[in-house]
Amino acid sequence: MDYALERFTAEVTAAIAATGRVPLDVIELTTPKANIPADLALPMFKAAKALGVSPPQLAAELAASIQLPATGLVGSVEATGPFLNFSLNPERLAQHVLATIQAQGDAYGAQTLGADQTVVVDYSAPNIAKRMHVGHIRSTIIGQALVNIYRALGYRVIGDNHLGDWGKQFGVVLAAIEREGKPTTEGEVALADLEAQYARYAAAAKDDPALDEHARHWSLRLEQGDADARALWQWCVDLTMTAAQRNYDRLSVKIDHAYGESFYEPMLADVIAQAQAAGVAFRDEGGAVVVENLQKLPTFLLQRSDGGTLYMTRDVATIVFRLREFAPRALIYVVGEPQTLHLRQLFALVEAMGYGAGVTLTHVAFGTIFDAKGMPLSTRRGNMVYLEALLDDAVARALAVVEQKSPELPEAEKLAVAEAVGVGAVVYNDLYQDPKRNITLDWERMLATEGNSATYLQYSHARCVSILRRANEDGGGGVGDALTLLTHPAETRLLKHLARLPEALREAAARHAPFVIADWCYATAREFGVFFEQCPVLRAETPALRGARLRLVAATASALRRGLALLGIRAPERM
Ligand code: ARG
Repeated sequence: MDYALERFTAEVTAAIAATGRVPLDVIELTTPKANIPADLALPMFKAAKALGVSPPQLAAELAASIQLPATGLVGSVEATGPFLNFSLNPERLAQHVLATIQAQGDAYGAQTLGADQTVVVDYSAPNIAKRMHVGHIRSTIIGQALVNIYRALGYRVIGDNHLGDWGKQFGVVLAAIEREGKPTTEGEVALADLEAQYARYAAAAKDDPALDEHARHWSLRLEQGDADARALWQWCVDLTMTAAQRNYDRLSVKIDHAYGESFYEPMLADVIAQAQAAGVAFRDEGGAVVVENLQKLPTFLLQRSDGGTLYMTRDVATIVFRLREFAPRALIYVVGEPQTLHLRQLFALVEAMGYGAGVTLTHVAFGTIFDAKGMPLSTRRGNMVYLEALLDDAVARALAVVEQKSPELPEAEKLAVAEAVGVGAVVYNDLYQDPKRNITLDWERMLATEGNSATYLQYSHARCVSILRRANEDGGGGVGDALTLLTHPAETRLLKHLARLPEALREAAARHAPFVIADWCYATAREFGVFFEQCPVLRAETPALRGARLRLVAATASALRRGLALLGIRAPERM
């Protein structure tokens, strides 16, 4: 796709190269400082040094001799001290940007950067027979945003939900269900009941070796593929995934695969043998398989002395499988900060086993969630928040805001808007800043109609749509195409900003940082606010200007909707 800013840069580069004075390898364009009224700058220092002239002298000489394409996006060139500054032509910028956004619609920003490259994103990964807690909530939201961003760049993206559906503790889960019966509740409540059953069984087993033994027996039956054990386990998986699916739907989350840890069981023996053959793991006197002294990392196990395997063993098998199955360029793990050491050990081990070539392994770590009082959420502290309850709470609060701001909306629409606003608030609160940082559940800020919140962005979008709706109703004429009239500084600023989405997408991907898109959305809404304040739309001086401004409003609505969709946030038409 031929985007405006990319084309502008290419035109500037070509024009400089055509002078024959500056070798291509010293053409390093930069963004001018905020107080310089230009869009791209070429610092002259390197070229001037090579040519033995002073930078300002070279800048002046080039400004006088450079040829700009007559119908291109470059409007003017000017020497300012040691810099050669280039500015966009506002009229052609308007035509280019608005035509592109209109043509691309919901795909605005799409690129081919990632063509023929595969990225696997490991995210969400809840544990079976348990509710999703903070770690899974953040992983789900951040992971899906990254998936959307890489897809927009043309990568083949494979999302994999690495379910915690295996391990010794499943013996306890199954034994507890056998003892107390299947809970008759559903959704997150049923999962909470299973957690309670589990806790009761584990507590009782502490004083009763027979119970402990019985749980071990269930775990063995499960591993050996016993039909009853398998069926009960499958029931747990289905119950958990049905509950998770409700949350995923609300969050616009769609994960391609859910192989889960259990899938790797048949591959574990081979992985353990491979690690030993590669000389990175060894069997100790007790019979355990140990990895020691790997890149100065703490010792860890691949197999316990009783023959049991571990979370780590399954993660190694997962990488081997993913490399073989998908041939990815990158494997991205969206997992909480507490698992940093686990992932460092994992990555170091597979590299030592010879799997590192041609693939980058990345841990996108994220911080925790604090409650409104500034306390980290924890089960022990009793302030734990689970996903379904969190979304319900957010939607109830959002409904109160909608009732107050838009009492005239029909009841059903109020509920739909509240759902979009509430869920959007939770999602945006997670994505607006660096994932490494902790987030706070500060509802006032999350649902504020001003400031950096999803609600503010959704309002800005709805405002654009409402202007377009009124334009259709008031008989003054709809969108027009006299786009060269859009030269007011506030219009040009908004247009330049809209033009930045493709670049923001590349930066977000390179930094694994959805907040770059969030920043773009926020700045778009602010630029729109300034434009709307300074430039009358429905009452523009002429019908032609009105039509052109309506096109700008339509493009802003469309681009903002696109930006929010990349983050997994819905944009209602009315609020
Ligand atoms: N199920 C794990 C947990 O709840 C997260 C899994 C993350 N992904 C991975 N490949 N280890 O802690």
